[in-house]
Amino acid sequence: MDAMPPRGPRLLIRKSIEQVQFECGNQHLKRTLGPLNLVLFGIGCIIGAGIYVMTGNAAAEYAGPAVMLSFVVAGLACAFAGFCYAELASCMPVAGSAYTYSYTTLGEVFAWIMGWLLVLEYGVAASTVAAGWSGNVTSLLANFGLHLPTYMTTAFVQAVQVNHSTVFTGGHGLNLLAALGVLAITGVLVLGVSESAKVNNIIVVVKVGVLLAFIVAGVFFVHPANWHPFIPHSEGGLRYGTAGIFRAASTIFFAYVGFEAVSTAAAEAKDPARDMPIGILGSLAICTVLYIVVAAVLTGMVPYRQLGGPAPIALAVNRMGPAFVWFAVVIKVGAVAGLTSVMLILTYGQTRIFFSMARDGLLPKMFSVLHPRFRTPWIGTVLLGSAIATAAAMLPIDILGNLVSLGTAVAFAIVCISVLWLRAKAPDMPRPYRAPGGIWTPILGIIGSLVMAAPLLADIILSAIKGDIIPASILGGYIVLGAMLYAGYGLKHSRLAQGLGQRDVDGIPGPGAMQAELRGIGQDHA
Ligand code: ALA
Repeated sequence: MDAMPPRGPRLLIRKSIEQVQFECGNQHLKRTLGPLNLVLFGIGCIIGAGIYVMTGNAAAEYAGPAVMLSFVVAGLACAFAGFCYAELASCMPVAGSAYTYSYTTLGEVFAWIMGWLLVLEYGVAASTVAAGWSGNVTSLLANFGLHLPTYMTTAFVQAVQVNHSTVFTGGHGLNLLAALGVLAITGVLVLGVSESAKVNNIIVVVKVGVLLAFIVAGVFFVHPANWHPFIPHSEGGLRYGTAGIFRAASTIFFAYVGFEAVSTAAAEAKDPARDMPIGILGSLAICTVLYIVVAAVLTGMVPYRQLGGPAPIALAVNRMGPAFVWFAVVIKVGAVAGLTSVMLILTYGQTRIFFSMARDGLLPKMFSVLHPRFRTPWIGTVLLGSAIATAAAMLPIDILGNLVSLGTAVAFAIVCISVLWLRAKAPDMPRPYRAPGGIWTPILGIIGSLVMAAPLLADIILSAIKGDIIPASILGGYIVLGAMLYAGYGLKHSRLAQGLGQRDVDGIPGPGAMQAELRGIGQDHA
């Protein structure tokens, strides 16, 4: 069925689709997932720190009440990419991640780039959610009279406002609470994900329920005056005005990260051609509507300039007054539960992406070594968990979240390019699902991704020019480290380049089985 040659120039060697199907062992996965399961799984991966935390910052710093429009812009960009994910997932319903799509289409160096970008989309996203989790836990504990010292709940790098722009500087704190949260999750992942699917479905219901409760109760505390001006006048650069709407869209793009995880379930979808687009775009559509309404209520309740803190929804609920303290506690418990589940899913995803890359020989073997008893990639999990915890302790949510949005936008663009590539190189390949609109959908997906990435890059470059080099140094260091790792290790150890498949060891679950386990986190397989 593979219409492409398996080989090409060294950096562009490709896996064949049969090889990917063999490696993922899809014969072990049953087709049990219908559209509802997939939509629930998507929502479980999507709702997290983006809405609970970053909406406030995006409104305060860039868009004001027009952050509602930013959600529309970011949602549209995701929708075009979502169609592309659905098409690739239906063609390659065995291999979950965009990493594998790139390995079978554009070639190894792009697979490596994709794998390294997924570190932002999963690993750094886990740090970001941990930072948001810490803010919500701190706010919740305060309801019980427990006030944690700020030096253990704020990151080492601090965002400060200088002349209407955000500047990052070294502080005296260390977000130990966020780090502890990640380490606890790491422990769970080393022992194995054994939560029942039902418990996880309940968490999805809790997450959505919290936002719905916030909307229903909050609407009575909206002061329409807070929505004026709807688009605040530009204060220069990307702060407010039309440019601010797009800048805010890049920030809250984070809130949509995760919808593409539905594509990892293609091998278990009852009818991938029907269920993939419904799962991906359905969860995206539901979250978009929910996000816009939450943003409307939030900016209606609290003047937008006051929403920049670590837990804006908690802040808004606190403003409801002493009679609503119980409600504030309910909302915060729900937010903390929801953020915990996203942190778990993202950290899990990161360990499995490195697991897959290590099995391909692109990363050291230690990332694919399984614990003899727990059957989990424990060394990789501990190493990655420690790195994620360190990032969460050191860096503020603004820097972390922007890195995630930037990396994810580039990853989406590569997925859209992969669709174009496959359409050109293998036009007759069976495609159970084909994105509508011909080549325009992938092209609009690429444009949408660039629109998301451009303001973030511009911000980093402009900040560096002004002397604020922390975000640029982190991004530069990350790119250089990735290039060195590939040149120094992956290029030499690639199993595909050596004519070998993934390491086949009896009893070691392949990525397909791993992905099935991941989906157990977010939904019911029964
Ligand atoms: N979309 C996920 C969140 O907002 C990553 O936390």
